[in-house]
Amino acid sequence: MTQTRRDVLQMGAAFGVAAMVPTIGRAQTADMQRIVARPASVQLAPPEYPKTDIWGYDGKLPGPEIRVPQGGPVARRFVNELPQASSMHWHGLRIENAMDGVAGLTQEAVPTGETFDYEFVAPDAGTYWYHAHNRSTEQVARGLYGALIVEEPTPADVDRDEVLILDDWLLDPETGQLDPDFDAPHNSSHAGRRGNFIATNGSFDTTWEVPANTRLRLRLINAANARVFQLGLSGLEGWVMALDGMPLETPEPIPEMILMAPGQRVDLFVDVTAPMGETAHLVRIEEDQGYSQAAFSVVDALDSSKEQRGAPVPLPPNPNMDVPNLETARRITLDMEGGAMGRLETAVLDGERMDFRELVAANQFWSFNGVVGMTQTPLASLARGETARMRIANNTVFPHAMHLHGMHFREIAEDGTIGPLRDTLLIFGDESREIAFVADNPGKWLFHCHMLSHAASGMMTWIEVA
Ligand code: C2O
Ligand code: CU
Repeated sequence: MTQTRRDVLQMGAAFGVAAMVPTIGRAQTADMQRIVARPASVQLAPPEYPKTDIWGYDGKLPGPEIRVPQGGPVARRFVNELPQASSMHWHGLRIENAMDGVAGLTQEAVPTGETFDYEFVAPDAGTYWYHAHNRSTEQVARGLYGALIVEEPTPADVDRDEVLILDDWLLDPETGQLDPDFDAPHNSSHAGRRGNFIATNGSFDTTWEVPANTRLRLRLINAANARVFQLGLSGLEGWVMALDGMPLETPEPIPEMILMAPGQRVDLFVDVTAPMGETAHLVRIEEDQGYSQAAFSVVDALDSSKEQRGAPVPLPPNPNMDVPNLETARRITLDMEGGAMGRLETAVLDGERMDFRELVAANQFWSFNGVVGMTQTPLASLARGETARMRIANNTVFPHAMHLHGMHFREIAEDGTIGPLRDTLLIFGDESREIAFVADNPGKWLFHCHMLSHAASGMMTWIEVA
């Protein structure tokens, strides 16, 4: 039977009546906690600079930290007080598709002055984040993001738990204001929009006071549009505990250099080994130079009996971390092409074949399997529960940070070893890598480069799980 307009109207009326019936669920919805995206002005750069105009959740930079117990509900009424339509995405959370917040795929962008209720259960403990997902190149660059921390049922054995959101900003050195050319073709066609000013938690100077031998949990989140952070430690020693929210089976000693692509998270447990009176650092490494990304000034230990501790026990695994049936898995290939110094000659944009010159004129520079940007057709349609293996060939000269919504994947190395569970994979130029995941979450899931100018200029597709 075909549904007539009248049927729809009647259904609408019926729902209207249902909404009048007071139930506990509805009452809760009525006082749902609000999160308001709005313009604000913050002291981002050092005090000799003026304040910077940003867009922030509740006018803050970063947005308010959301912390919930594993399995607990997250409920926020998103209120849009921005001059642009927007939506909220919960990066890395394996939640229901309707709550994923991708404007144009899972919902319509929320217009200025309107609201959208996000309500879901956080299934996995770990470090996640939320950010705008409409015109992300601009909206994330303006500051629309925050941390979402899901706590393990038993608190980890650390003295302190700190969230460090790393970001870079493209500021006018005179005025301290953001460069408003968010779609600059040079950025889109090269390494993306990279900043000239780097901050942690929206501040140029992030310092904590810590007693010697403190064990810290550092939850690092890369919220930058395009910058790959290269990090090291000084006066701190420890273990990598989790990647992209998901615990490692065995904690690993922290490598010489930690690489973090946009969107990625790393959870570290570190012991403060610098002696009292000195300062330990999370160090950013750039062209063999070290810069302080965050400082820990070592003060007298109240509990001076504290000694350095042994290796930590792993964080408890999250549910459904296995990727079985690799041999019989559905095979998918993704060929990435384009960008400056690339070999892209022609690709399809909005159903039309174009040569590179025409694509450049449309400010589009990248293709997946010869197609530019998102279309009506998914990259793959998977049956629920099916395992998929995707070979991703980066036939460009730039690195890309491929992020899958709704499901985590594992990398399958050349030698067949299976990597840790992740939601964002950094793939260098001319590299080919393989990932595998179980399509256990139904819906339409975006798969894109988290270098946001790349996503906006072609590097975006989606996967359907039915
Ligand atoms: Cu962090 Cu498509 O998003
Ligand atoms: Cu990219």
